[in-house]
Amino acid sequence: MSATVSNPASSTRPASGRMAAVNDMARLLRGLFEVEREFLRTVTTLIYRVGEPELKYLLCQHAWESAGHARFLRERGRELSSFGSSENVRDSIRKLFTEAVGTTTQDPLVLTAGFYNVLKPALLSAYRHYLKVTDPLADWPSKKLVEEFIADEERHAREIAPYLAATDAREWSLHLTQALDDLGGWLAQETRLPLAASYVWQHTQTPFTHPATCNRGKYPTCSSVFSQNPAETPIVRSWLVDPQTDARVIRLMVYVWLMMELDAVDYLSTIFFDTPHAPFDLHHDMARHLWDESRHSQFGYRQLPKLGVDLMTVEHSLDLYNILVQMPPHERYAMMTMEFEAGSFPTKALVMDRIRELNDFEADTLLAFDRNDEQNHVRYGHRWLPEMMALFGETRPTDEFVKATQEKFKAFAAIYGNQTPHALTPAQRLTGEKILKLAGV
Ligand SMILES: [Fe+2]
Ligand SMILES: [Fe+2]
Repeated sequence: MSATVSNPASSTRPASGRMAAVNDMARLLRGLFEVEREFLRTVTTLIYRVGEPELKYLLCQHAWESAGHARFLRERGRELSSFGSSENVRDSIRKLFTEAVGTTTQDPLVLTAGFYNVLKPALLSAYRHYLKVTDPLADWPSKKLVEEFIADEERHAREIAPYLAATDAREWSLHLTQALDDLGGWLAQETRLPLAASYVWQHTQTPFTHPATCNRGKYPTCSSVFSQNPAETPIVRSWLVDPQTDARVIRLMVYVWLMMELDAVDYLSTIFFDTPHAPFDLHHDMARHLWDESRHSQFGYRQLPKLGVDLMTVEHSLDLYNILVQMPPHERYAMMTMEFEAGSFPTKALVMDRIRELNDFEADTLLAFDRNDEQNHVRYGHRWLPEMMALFGETRPTDEFVKATQEKFKAFAAIYGNQTPHALTPAQRLTGEKILKLAGV
């Protein structure tokens, strides 16, 4: 018998017993990871359904923060042997989040309340449970993360509250609470209250589909803000690149352009729900992409009023959402990254050079970060488009697929584009001509 043989008493105990403390905590981290990733997949369906831009921006920010939580949980989880290498979400968690998405006819604020008054508080309770049951010294790395996430969740609740103050969501909240009680909370940490036999899962009766158009609430809408006609739209294509155009006019036009990236916010949001089997890193990068677009839109939304523009005179363009939502998700993503974003750099470069004449440090800064973000978005496109194509069984080479998709977009634009009439008369709305006046030209 060799001296290196371990104690026979301990070697007869199953390895799972020896590592029970770690395995228990890894199991909880795994549950938290799945909840955060599924929250991201589903909360994004609210973005194009709520009308208030500020609420869209906030949802994008929370979606991005959830993606961050999920990634840190996965990184920490993978340090623990039993976390598992797959990124799949178990059916019981997925089912409840899919239910929370609701239907196209439900009030989006009621649905938002379902997420924020039921599902998110349950996540906060799950994080608190984790802190309570883990060893603060042995599991210090997880503890620090979870403490941070608790502070984030508490802040999310405060940030969303003003938007939900007038919404009565008691019935819908009860519906979701019953399903959650059946699980005993996200980590099964509470006593289970089994579902009544009469409980009806709504999404099995009426599966969710994206609405044909996006919601812009009280704001006026139109098909497009780009044209060659200064009496019709605020952005006059030829003026953007004409060296004779006053730089102050270009600044106003580019802020309208940035604000209209709200269309990217709305159509990019649709892709998460449609790709339940995507690798988590794809959703993570798409969440970053989404949050970037929401900040670009805010650049315009916050700067235009400072330059004398009444936002109620700025029509929101709906064409891109209306056309893209008719196409499958990988085609939406291809148009976004390979056509709209990749194609925007030359004009934006000219615009940036002109704006620098104004010595407007803030405008220069916003545009520089916009450009940097857009470069990342095109990189995301190169990284993830082939993976997304594979999810939908698309086997053509990427270049060929992108070309075909560009053609398809043109055909779809002829059918689904240009269907949103101007909500305002030319006298009421912001146009190129009005921008000349505002700029003092
Ligand atoms: Fe952007
Ligand atoms: Fe972008």
